[in-house]
Amino acid sequence: MSTFWSLYVSVLSLGTLFAITWLLLSTRKGQRSEQTEETVGHSFDGIEEYDNPLPKWWFMLFIATLVFALGYLALYPGLGNWQGLLPGYNYLDNDRQTPFANGKTGWTSVHEWEKEMASSQAKFGPLFARYAAMPIEDVARDPEALKMGARLFASNCSVCHGSDAKGAYGFPNLADADWRWGGTPDAIKASILKGRQAVMPGWAAVIGEQGVADVAGFVLSNLDGRTLPEGTKADVANGAKLFAATCTACHGPAGKGNPAMGAPDLTHPGAFIYGSSFAQLQQTIRHGRQGQMPAQEQLQGNDKVHVLAAYVYSLSHGDEKTGEHVRSVEAPAQ
Ligand code: HEC
Ligand code: HEC
Repeated sequence: MSTFWSLYVSVLSLGTLFAITWLLLSTRKGQRSEQTEETVGHSFDGIEEYDNPLPKWWFMLFIATLVFALGYLALYPGLGNWQGLLPGYNYLDNDRQTPFANGKTGWTSVHEWEKEMASSQAKFGPLFARYAAMPIEDVARDPEALKMGARLFASNCSVCHGSDAKGAYGFPNLADADWRWGGTPDAIKASILKGRQAVMPGWAAVIGEQGVADVAGFVLSNLDGRTLPEGTKADVANGAKLFAATCTACHGPAGKGNPAMGAPDLTHPGAFIYGSSFAQLQQTIRHGRQGQMPAQEQLQGNDKVHVLAAYVYSLSHGDEKTGEHVRSVEAPAQ
């Protein structure tokens, strides 16, 4: 921190301690030293207070806390840039020979975290690097790698995709055979590493409210073969025409989707992340959808993403050697 803020913090902390000491000593000065039957003169709901001095042990306790505070501030970093007398808090004297990324030395919680990261990197880095050099399909058969992947998944991905990776509203299921951006090992890794930005435009302004209902009716009844709800005012034949004109560019002529732009297969309503009821389909088509998968490259780095990709891949691919489904690998309890 800059010299100004360092001084500011130091003066404020020490000043407060001195002010408290002064208050303690100055109020003690005027007090009598012997016990008395006199009261201080006020009464709260009939409760009065003797005008006795603070018991000595109580007073000493105050002094002890003040001494403790000063000792603490001398030993540990607390006064601005002061690093504390304890050597453990001075990284330059210690295990860390170079300043931290911000060019500073000394104890901060950020440095503690960096240190922890560095030591876990030193411990697990080579392991992740070894897996990163292997093809994802092979990593997906390594029980140790899958355990590491499951742990990474639990702490970084389950908030959105669920602890069982089966997704939720707005978040795709990663344990089934339906892929919006492709289910090959490379496509899965690319999804995680670089993230994905899906853009499904809204159509209300282009085809009108009736057009939205018609095309939703077509998606529901023709593409995925369900019957429309009773009393639905949708012209499915017109919906087919609209679909051919406006939707096939992304979803393909048969509605099978296009992984190049993350346009999902519209013949698998079970994999729809925004719901597949007539009302939900209309909502999607009316306003569009913009699903965002956050890129992990900066957060996890290539090697961890490689292991994550293998874990995700394993969820929908059995082990060809043993014939066992690797899906049985459980995510650790959080
Ligand atoms: C510019 C390309 C594009 C066009 C044109 C397009 N879509 Fe989409 N659509 C997408 C993308 C990309 C997604 C995925 C959105 C997401 O994941 O947030 C999507 C999602 C959907 C979904 C939601 C599926 C789910 O998982 O819930 C439906 C339904 C849908 N589109 C229907 C249509 C219909 C009907 C049309 C024509 C009126 C259409 N789309 C036109 C790109 C397009
Ligand atoms: C903030 C929520 C969020 C987090 C955290 C998140 N994801 Fe996603 N992920 C999404 C969304 C939303 C999509 C779908 C994007 C779209 O609409 O196409 C997605 C898509 C994906 C896909 C592509 C699925 C497909 O069908 O092609 C993969 C693979 C994936 N995520 C893996 C992961 C992994 C592994 C992690 C943890 C490192 C992770 N995600 C963390 C929200 C998230």
